[in-house]
Amino acid sequence: MSSSNFFTIILISLTLALIPQTSFALNDPLFHICSTSKNFTPHTPYESNLKTLINSLIYKTPSTGFGIGSVGQAQYQNQPAYGLALCRGDITTLECKTCVSNASKEILNLCPYNKGAIIWYDNCMFKYSDIDFFGKIDNTNKFSLLNVQNVSGDSMKFNNMTKDLLSLLAYEASLDKKLYASGELKIGELERVYGLSECTRDLTSVDCKKCLDDAISELSNFSDGKKGGRVVGGSCNVQYEIYPFVRE
Ligand SMILES: *[C@@H]1O[C@H](CO)[C@@H](O)[C@H](O)[C@H]1NC(C)=O
Ligand SMILES: *[C@@H]1O[C@H](CO)[C@@H](O)[C@H](O)[C@H]1NC(C)=O
Ligand SMILES: *[C@@H]1O[C@H](CO)[C@@H](O)[C@H](O)[C@H]1NC(C)=O
Ligand SMILES: *[C@@H]1O[C@H](CO)[C@@H](O)[C@H](O)[C@H]1NC(C)=O
Repeated sequence: MSSSNFFTIILISLTLALIPQTSFALNDPLFHICSTSKNFTPHTPYESNLKTLINSLIYKTPSTGFGIGSVGQAQYQNQPAYGLALCRGDITTLECKTCVSNASKEILNLCPYNKGAIIWYDNCMFKYSDIDFFGKIDNTNKFSLLNVQNVSGDSMKFNNMTKDLLSLLAYEASLDKKLYASGELKIGELERVYGLSECTRDLTSVDCKKCLDDAISELSNFSDGKKGGRVVGGSCNVQYEIYPFVRE
């Protein structure tokens, strides 16, 4: 009994350490949120606007890793739909294309007839709404993930250095044209911490930095001494791990 538990833990740590991006992790959504109250009726303008929007985001996102747009015009009572898709800054055009097109199918299955929804994967996020949300920090749609294993050694030092790394990456991301930064920091002889910061590209540099700084203080509130963690939102996300998880 206890030896099989022990073995499972070893296997999990090996998997995490050696093959950080296994296919099961990539293909499953991390999380999704359906807008709680508002539904649309089939065969209304909103449905057709949303479908057109989704197809255009699938088409235009992969080349740059970011797509944004709206379909329909409010002044004609045409029930516009607003949406965006963002791929992680280091992934290829092909990976982005696969992720965005899977995400759009999955979110329509998970939130049928919802006017607004958001879904996150390791490689991308996809969001739409009947409300114009462009250029505003999304404080509503957010979740966090934690690797519950503790780091060995000086956890205070680890926490401080992780926070320093993420704060530096928040600053770098806010100045980057893709609003994305990744990097690593040497902690001990062999240990390193790896991080990423990223915003949706409808935010200004200032709002990107604000979004990331808030996410970092939230993350450091619950990630004390943990081997990995992330705060993932509709406008920005931060993540750290003790293994490399993005391409440089
Ligand atoms: C996309 O969906 C297809 C079919 O469901 C699946 O085989 C593939 O692994 C998925 N890929 C990603 C990156 O989500
Ligand atoms: C991590 O450390 C905390 C306190 O130092 C302890 O309560 C917790 O059980 C540890 N978790 C694991 C998974 O070892
Ligand atoms: C970590 O940061 C705290 C607060 O800023 C400080 O008091 C502490 O001395 C630092 N510890 C290490 C090991 O760097
Ligand atoms: C951090 O935790 C404290 C105490 O639980 C809470 O009051 C504070 O709002 C939290 N900060 C963030 C940024 O989540």
